[in-house]
Amino acid sequence: MDISFERQHAVVFGGTSGINFGIAKAFGRHGARITVASRKAENVEAATQSLTAAGVHALGACADVRDFDAVGAVFVRATQRFGPVDVLISGAAGNFLAEAKDLSANGFKSVLDIDLLGSFHVLKQAYAHLRRPGAAVINITAPQGVVPMRYQAHCGAAKAGIDQLTRILALEWGPVGIRVNAISPGPIDGTEGVRRLIAPDREARAFAEARVPLGRLGTLDDIAYLALFLASRYAGYISGAIVPCDGGGSFDSVKPALEAAGGAARRSAPVAST
Ligand code: NAP
Ligand code: COA
Repeated sequence: MDISFERQHAVVFGGTSGINFGIAKAFGRHGARITVASRKAENVEAATQSLTAAGVHALGACADVRDFDAVGAVFVRATQRFGPVDVLISGAAGNFLAEAKDLSANGFKSVLDIDLLGSFHVLKQAYAHLRRPGAAVINITAPQGVVPMRYQAHCGAAKAGIDQLTRILALEWGPVGIRVNAISPGPIDGTEGVRRLIAPDREARAFAEARVPLGRLGTLDDIAYLALFLASRYAGYISGAIVPCDGGGSFDSVKPALEAAGGAARRSAPVAST
């Protein structure tokens, strides 16, 4: 297969670090002009500089996905610079571990606002700027959208919403030639998600690795290659798919991390004997 995105424009929301930045770099290596967007100016600056240093035509933009108008402004700027959007990656997310009973309403809302409402903002604001026919949209979801995982009520609910948004937009946008898919990564080495939530120490890492049938954490390239394929003409008949890239499944790998963090998930008090 000869995969090239020469003269195409890829926009990566939440694209300044981790998995999404790995995807942005891969599209850049395959010829695309790249727009990366996230909240923090220092992250946007560093990611844009790194892409430019690698010879990629890159634009960086600051926007919080919770701010609908700011997201729209990114697409206006990006398309003025690089033209209609051929590939859209929507992957901004926030997460932390908390038992539902200890999670404040605002904590739940914050993750829903970033992951689910933020995804809707990105997709909705992108629509007018997507090349049609031909654009490929890829949402970044997570296994806890399908598999129940402890301490992930907020993220699990949000990612389940993203999964269904993906399927519904595939129905609605297919007729104008836009494909909409999602990637569901397993634990990916070297990312914030793994460092902070899944494997903050060696014991937790070994536990997580043992839970993956293929016996290892994923790499940034594992996800980036799938994104390249899904956006390419070789995936031209794939839409509405939630594609796992997780080494065969990794179920509930967060317990040791939580315990290592000091047992924040308080056990229920023993029932008093009478
Ligand atoms: P990460 O490095 O923290 O990436 C998150 C990105 O989103 C950053 O660029 C961050 O930049 C941006 N972001 C966060 N909040 C934002 C907001 N409100 N508005 C705009 N941008 C925002 O995390 P990661 O671990 O690589 O995760 C990337 C994606 O993969 C997420 O969707 C996550 O749910 C998914 N995922 C990760 C794993 C894993 O193993 N790491 C597994 C399954 C799924 P700023 O801080 O500058 O905003
Ligand atoms: N445990 C329990 N509640 C927590 C928490 C934790 N570890 N971290 C934050 N919260 C709660 C806060 O207490 C607050 O609720 P409150 O007002 O009732 O006290 C609410 O969540 C919002 O916190 P705040 O720090 O104001 O949110 P923010 O908008 O600045 O940041 C987060 C959003 C919390 C999701 C933050 O982790 C983030 O920005 N993450 C981005 C990177 C990331 O998570 N990457 C991994 C992707 S898998």
